[in-house]
Amino acid sequence: MTLGIVAALHEEIADLLAEMAPGAHVEHIGMRDYYVGKLHGHDCVIVLARIGKVAAAATTTALIHRFDVRELVFTGVAGGLAHGLAVGDVVIADTLTQHDMDASPLFPRYEIPLLGRASFNAESALRDALAQAARDWLAEELHEQVSAEWRAQWQMAAPRVHVGQIASGDRFVSSANEVTLLRGHLPQALAVEMEGAAVAQVCHEYGIPFAVMRTLSDAADDTAHVDFPRFLREVASHYSHGILRRFLRSRPAHPPSHPPSRP
Ligand code: ADE
Repeated sequence: MTLGIVAALHEEIADLLAEMAPGAHVEHIGMRDYYVGKLHGHDCVIVLARIGKVAAAATTTALIHRFDVRELVFTGVAGGLAHGLAVGDVVIADTLTQHDMDASPLFPRYEIPLLGRASFNAESALRDALAQAARDWLAEELHEQVSAEWRAQWQMAAPRVHVGQIASGDRFVSSANEVTLLRGHLPQALAVEMEGAAVAQVCHEYGIPFAVMRTLSDAADDTAHVDFPRFLREVASHYSHGILRRFLRSRPAHPPSHPPSRP
């Protein structure tokens, strides 16, 4: 069973790629490099989707059709939306919505036309395994991999893991005004990013279990664009690699295809 690992930015998968490199091969399709190999005993395909919903949807479709991926995890950063969340927290999606989908008055706002739904659920076992891996990594490895100096700079006192709604759209949200609007329209949304709900829609349409993990890099407010690139380099790359490594190690390498026979 092959797992697809997808990110929008190189930093988010660079360390995983280096870890997989020795036995991996690369296939170049549709202007993307798909790295096929094994990670911690699992058959994996790692790919940089690039930014935005179309890029994410196209990459997800190729993973399913060309690489026979049967499960998918998206990793990356997001802007925090909900009150009480902080830079350095991790948000794991339980449901995802495209905040820029609006075909009203033909269809209700956010509903994907002709699909009859406005949100997509992450697969519960993948979601829970990622959330546990994130909690364990924060408790046991964060302090080793992200220096005290950087944690202080980013005011990361005690990062936490949250499970809830993620909103996706083709817009880097970087104003307090827009945050207020999004909070008003999608009061349950914890974080905003630019790919997750597109991956979710494609996985839903093909019946592929998926999960989305996001490290909060900014508060989606007027300073978001300043924080974002530095945070990616100094902090988020460690989160992605560390949490996914724990996630992969926590899963049986070759799940039995049949239940064990009775004695
Ligand atoms: N990814 C990280 N921060 C983001 C933001 N503020 N808006 C959209 N996507 C993001």
